Amino acid sequence: MTDIAVVLERELGSAAVIGPGHERLDDYGRDESPLPEFFPPACAVLVESTEQAAAVLRICLERKVPVTPRGAGSGMCGGALPVDRGVVLSTERMQRIKQIDAGDLVAVVEPGVVTGRLQEAVEAERMFYPPDPASLEFCSIGGNASTNAGGPRAFKYGVTREYILGLEVALMGGEVLRCGRRTSKGVTSYDLVAGFVGTEGTFGVITELTLKLVPLPMAAAAVLGVFADVATAGAAISALLRGGLRPRVLELADRASIAAIRDKSRYRFPANAGAIVLLEVDGEPEAMPMMMEKIGLRCDELGALDVLGATEPAERAAVWEARRLISSSLKAAYRIKLNEDICVPRGRIVEMLARVDRVAAETGIPCAVFGHAGDGNLHVNLLSNDDPADPAVRTRMWAAAEQVFVHTIALGGTLSGEHGIGLTKRDYMHLEQSEQLLEWQRRWKLMWDPQNLLNPGKKLPARRASCSE
Ligand code: MLT
Ligand code: ZN
Repeated sequence: MTDIAVVLERELGSAAVIGPGHERLDDYGRDESPLPEFFPPACAVLVESTEQAAAVLRICLERKVPVTPRGAGSGMCGGALPVDRGVVLSTERMQRIKQIDAGDLVAVVEPGVVTGRLQEAVEAERMFYPPDPASLEFCSIGGNASTNAGGPRAFKYGVTREYILGLEVALMGGEVLRCGRRTSKGVTSYDLVAGFVGTEGTFGVITELTLKLVPLPMAAAAVLGVFADVATAGAAISALLRGGLRPRVLELADRASIAAIRDKSRYRFPANAGAIVLLEVDGEPEAMPMMMEKIGLRCDELGALDVLGATEPAERAAVWEARRLISSSLKAAYRIKLNEDICVPRGRIVEMLARVDRVAAETGIPCAVFGHAGDGNLHVNLLSNDDPADPAVRTRMWAAAEQVFVHTIALGGTLSGEHGIGLTKRDYMHLEQSEQLLEWQRRWKLMWDPQNLLNPGKKLPARRASCSE
């Protein structure tokens, strides 16, 4: 057994440590990112409390061992991969929902709570936690905070950041910091909560979250607009946005995405669907029919071949189940799936869709596009059945991804709307951010982690030689 595993076992007990030779250790060297290789850690520690998390961070600093925080391992950009080996610190056992307070509209939870489980628990008490990443049945709330996860409902309700009032964070070296508040407003300090959210475990390890809840909408209904192709659907989305309609979701799926789920889903997608636009509204039950009709008529005017409603909970659940299957179905159908979650300003959606088409045509790489089009957040999936380990294939695929990124930035967009940067997109950060901006972020990172031991190699690219300090 390696040194660090022995030390951690001595401190935390053997039940907490997955050491060398353990059959599960390799699991902590993988996540949902499209990388063919895996990165086995020296050991993984499954902490059960803030004190244990802090102890791991103290020991790792003392011994100068890199440590990689990990939630449920559902990240798509390699953010939880231990690229420098060392210790994986998993919060998967910290699963307590400590409090759901209807008076304060607040929930206090540990980071390992699965997002869907939290939603069920708060909805049972007529409250609502809106952020709904597609992986909500297995991703955890700590991971959502670390990537500032979004989801379809972000269109109306906003992303994870907007629902985090306060955090408890274990810092490198073992100090525990509480920041933020429990109140709905508060401007006393610098916004350290925002400073930790989205940092992908490079600043600290989140050990408790105080979350904002909202009242549960009384009713919801979905409308599916069926279009001939993605260009018409994209133009319809732009027109819907300009018209001021505010459904709670405004999603798009192209022909290739629909084809991937057609045989798997309980929901029967129309045979003529070249693209679908999925809209969902919520509010008072009496308002639903009127809102659906308004949206349906507008979709008709915008060239929909067909407009279908889904009001019954079972029918809506089937539509959503199908939508959430897109990613895993594409992954099952192709040996390589680079899923780039780029985001462009809403006015550039149509142009971005056209440019993705162009990249697919020019490179000959098939492409499936779906996602949160109302937010300009498109999941552009570059697909291949070639050998993922072949360096030439890899180069070709990532060159196509880079073209997608270049177009995104040219249209005023950003590399990631919700999945994060992690490892896979780190070296493209220069396309979007100036060396000056990157340098300030490196300084900020070093303030929390001067030895660069916490999730090293993630998010920020290496300094360029020409950088002037
Ligand atoms: C989704 O919206 O389905 C996910 O963010 C993207 C994915 O899982 O590929
Ligand atoms: Zn998404």
